[in-house]
This record gives sequence, structure tokens and C-alpha cells, in this order.
Amino acid sequence: MVSEFSSRAATEADAQTLAALNLACWRETYESLLPAETFAALSLEERLDHWRGVFQTQGGRVTLAMDAAGEAAGFAHWRAHELALGGRLGRGGEICAIYLRRSALRRGLGGALLRLMAEEMRASGLKWASLVVLRENLPARRFYEALGGRRFGRELSWRGVPQVAYGWRDVERLAAHQ
Ligand SMILES: CC(C)(COP(=O)(O)OP(=O)(O)OC[C@H]1O[C@@H](n2cnc3c(N)ncnc32)[C@H](O)[C@@H]1OP(=O)(O)O)[C@@H](O)C(=O)NCCC(=O)NCCS
Repeated sequence: MVSEFSSRAATEADAQTLAALNLACWRETYESLLPAETFAALSLEERLDHWRGVFQTQGGRVTLAMDAAGEAAGFAHWRAHELALGGRLGRGGEICAIYLRRSALRRGLGGALLRLMAEEMRASGLKWASLVVLRENLPARRFYEALGGRRFGRELSWRGVPQVAYGWRDVERLAAHQ
């Protein structure tokens, strides 16, 4: 982890913290990317339901990052893909979310969290990783590309907004990415 930040595995006891952090990050990231009514409808209750659902039923691993003052600075969540490609590609991991507060951007924390997820996937026997990102979220796309992600597949949609997919064929390589 980057020295000015610390991180730990999150549990259901962190659901409230994650919901508030998630909402704050969404508000900072999506104001210009989501339609106004979709943006206005983002709510703490919905995020709290989401995070309780993650810990109670969906599963996967969640990491919470804190800044030097102990304030929640970002989080990352991945889980095993339901889709099994089989053959030599084996099973993969789905990066469900990686979000930092604006104050924590561009200090290496996102790269550290992505590499950590890749290492956790590797240790769980998964071979590849993928995620979806809003097509117009260009800073995040540049970040994924800088860490070796390749765009693949056709466009998707999230809350009516176009999305594109990125993938890494080899999580071991991603975990070691400089
Ligand atoms: C995307 C995100 C996780 C990246 O984390 P980060 O800590 O800011 O990125 P890092 O400092 O680890 O950057 C690693 C490299 O990625 C690239 N990169 C990161 N942000 C970039 C940007 N805004 N524009 C262009 N390249 C960027 C750079 O090559 C960078 O290396 P450098 O700083 O040495 O030039 C973070 O910016 C974030 O949380 N953004 C808001 C939420 C979001 O959009 N999440 C993704 C939703 S799918």
C-alpha cells in the first residue's frame, strides 16, 4: 500500500461507512456523467442495502483504505465471475468497484488497490479479471489502460448510460504491474 494510506479487509460492520463513502465518491465522480434525475436519485439507503447485500449474499472481497488521518479514502470490491470461460483461460474475477475520494486521487492508491485485488484473485485460483466502466469516464479508462487493461466486447449500459468493458488476461501480471 502507498505509505500515506493504510488498508484492511472490510466486513459487514463497515456497511454504513462503505455506503457513505460510496455515495460521496459517486457524487464526486458522476455529476457530469449521469443524467440529472439519475444523479439526484442516488441515495444512502440504496447504497446501505447494496453493501448489506454484498456481505450477506453476494460475497466477494472488499478493501477499505484510510488516509493518514484515519478517514475513509477509498474502497475496492471484487468477486469471482459467474461466467466460467473454461479451457486454458480458466475462471476469472469481476472487479465490481474501485472508488477513491477526490482528495486521494492520483497518489498511487488506485493502482495499489487494483494490484491488491489481482493478487487476491491469483491466490484464489482465478486467472483473469474484468470490469465495466462508463464510456465517458475517461480518467478511469486511462487508469485501467495505464495498468494494462484492454477494452473488449460490445457496449453495455448502466442506468441508461453507455458502458464499456476492460479485461486483463493474467491477474498475476497485473498484481506485479509497476
Ligand atoms: C480511477 C481511480 C481508481 C484511479 O486511482 P488513482 O489512485 O487516482 O490512480 P493512480 O495514482 O494509481 O494512477 C496510476 C496511473 O494511472 C493513470 N491515471 C490515473 N488517473 C489518471 C487520469 N485522471 N488521467 C490519465 N491517466 C490517469 C496514470 O498513468 C497513473 O500513473 P502516473 O500518476 O504515474 O501518471 C481513481 O481515480 C478514482 O477513484 N476515480 C474516481 C472514481 C472512478 O471513476 N472509479 C472507477 C469507476 S469504474
